[in-house]
Amino acid sequence: PVPVLLDCDPGHDDAIAILLALGSPHVDLLGITTTFGNCSVEMATYNALRILALADRRDIPVAAGSARPLAGEARLGEFIHGATGIDGTSLPEPLAEPDALGAVDFLRTSLLAAPAPVTVVATGPITNLALLLRDHPEVHSRIAEIVFMGGSTERGNTTPAAEFNTYADPEALDIVLTSGLDLRMVGLNLTHQALATPDVVARMRAMDHAVGRACADLMGFFGSTYSDVFDFAAPPVHDPCTIAALIDPTLISWHRSFVAVETAGRWTRGATVVDLHGRLDQPPNAQVAISLDVDAYWDLVLAALDRASS
Ligand code: BDR
Ligand code: CA
Repeated sequence: PVPVLLDCDPGHDDAIAILLALGSPHVDLLGITTTFGNCSVEMATYNALRILALADRRDIPVAAGSARPLAGEARLGEFIHGATGIDGTSLPEPLAEPDALGAVDFLRTSLLAAPAPVTVVATGPITNLALLLRDHPEVHSRIAEIVFMGGSTERGNTTPAAEFNTYADPEALDIVLTSGLDLRMVGLNLTHQALATPDVVARMRAMDHAVGRACADLMGFFGSTYSDVFDFAAPPVHDPCTIAALIDPTLISWHRSFVAVETAGRWTRGATVVDLHGRLDQPPNAQVAISLDVDAYWDLVLAALDRASS
């Protein structure tokens, strides 16, 4: 299995990403770190622990991270995720306490202790990873690659130009994009193909166990806000696309490109600039997700959710 550290802000789709990792024999989830984003970092930490409790897993450490971006104030995603970050279902209480280490120290310690380089997946604002790379350069060689959900080759979902995670902390993403590490970007242009249609939600509910029911309930709430705010017929389940890419490399097609993030634009702060056609004459720094095998994605995710049930 691929050793993975997951940095996230659960979050309806982060919750599915965690359960996908837990239910997949191809992923060895070494730990979860949390950040502000869809909700406060305190709530994200509590939510991560409750999702682990849903799957009856007390063996995965959870370490709490950044409460705010590198610059400016935190703007939370309650308009999509509700007051708790995962409105729409009730989850069991945590089986464990958060790790004594904060996220950055936990990531550093885990990376240095691992016998081989580890894949780091980020599905929220990327502040924790930026602090890690900036303050602890000794970990660079211990990271196999960073796979992040954020940005788009097209338009945004938080401003017209910027996606939520990249808008939340553009300075942090800039540190990651210029790190020289192997990067894979999973943006909205990809994740908007991963829609939880009524058929998908029915397959979750038909599992007839706590994990399946909770996921179906989460998708119900997520679908209602996506319908109200964006007029989507079904919600895009962004974050698990990162984990799915690790499990089955054939699910997603990629294009190697130069990717930058706008930190200074008047209307475009947080927008990713993806040079798919090489117009900027810059060296490529990331593999950018382009198209998703949608049926295979859902077959993979649903099978893992079924296995994640205790
Ligand atoms: C991203 O923002 C959050 O709302 C989701 O969890 C996802 O990580 C999508 O723009
Ligand atoms: Ca997220």
